[in-house]
Amino acid sequence: MIELRNVSLRYGSREVLKNVSLTIEDRTIKAILGPSGVGKSTIIKLMLGLIKPTSGQVLIDDVDITHLSEVELFPIRQKMGIVFQGNALFDSMTITENMSFFLRENLNLSEDEIRRRVQEQIKFAGLEGYEDSLPDRLSGGMKKRVAIGRALIFHPKMILFDEPTAGLDPVSSKKILDLIARLQREIGLGAVLVTHILSDVFAVADSVAVLYQGEIIFNDAPQKLYESAHPFIASFLANPED
Ligand SMILES: Nc1ncnc2c1ncn2[C@@H]1O[C@H](COP(=O)(O)OP(=O)(O)OP(=O)(O)O)[C@@H](O)[C@H]1O
Ligand SMILES: [Mg+2]
Repeated sequence: MIELRNVSLRYGSREVLKNVSLTIEDRTIKAILGPSGVGKSTIIKLMLGLIKPTSGQVLIDDVDITHLSEVELFPIRQKMGIVFQGNALFDSMTITENMSFFLRENLNLSEDEIRRRVQEQIKFAGLEGYEDSLPDRLSGGMKKRVAIGRALIFHPKMILFDEPTAGLDPVSSKKILDLIARLQREIGLGAVLVTHILSDVFAVADSVAVLYQGEIIFNDAPQKLYESAHPFIASFLANPED
């Protein structure tokens, strides 16, 4: 379970997050919806302990990670896979090497076990035949699936997606969203889905928090968005592409 308790964050004099409280239960998919630049990626970095809040606390499975050191954070971070906004693949490494790199660096596993885990992810992501390809031979949707495989290879219980469908065509987007839904259904994986795309939310999220001007202005089931009287939500529903 991931919990933000009254989290505020400043970059210099700019207050990006104001008293944000959020809970993400295991096995559920929570979308965080908000316009560009609102602080969505910042929330993901806070959950991983990559940045510290100016005030408030971040808890992972009831452990306050706010003041933990890098070494102390290591076992916490293993519980959460991360799929970055731009995938962050290594261009000079094959798909297999991309998927196994962090595993080999960080866990003391046998080469057999590493190979087994890579195969498991290649199969799950539908990337058979591309094991030895470099990322630039792959489409945007396939690169995203490699990034998802790399995140899953540690067998996390939560996965954090930063704008997983941004820049993808509708067919590739649907494949990624289907994969996210399958992860929850088949292996009980919880997810945080940061997005500015409304249809992502309706496709897979159990609940959605809307972030606007640094604050959570809505936190409920996606269908309840239509009952919100907040002017930003009303205009967002009317013009979802804005
Ligand atoms: N290291 C930093 N130093 C100063 N300002 C930053 C830093 N990182 C982000 N910001 C600013 O904080 C705000 C929130 O950034 P963040 O990347 O979290 O937004 P976002 O919602 O993910 O945006 P996008 O839709 O572009 O991905 C932005 O205005 C950004 O310019
Ligand atoms: Mg972002």
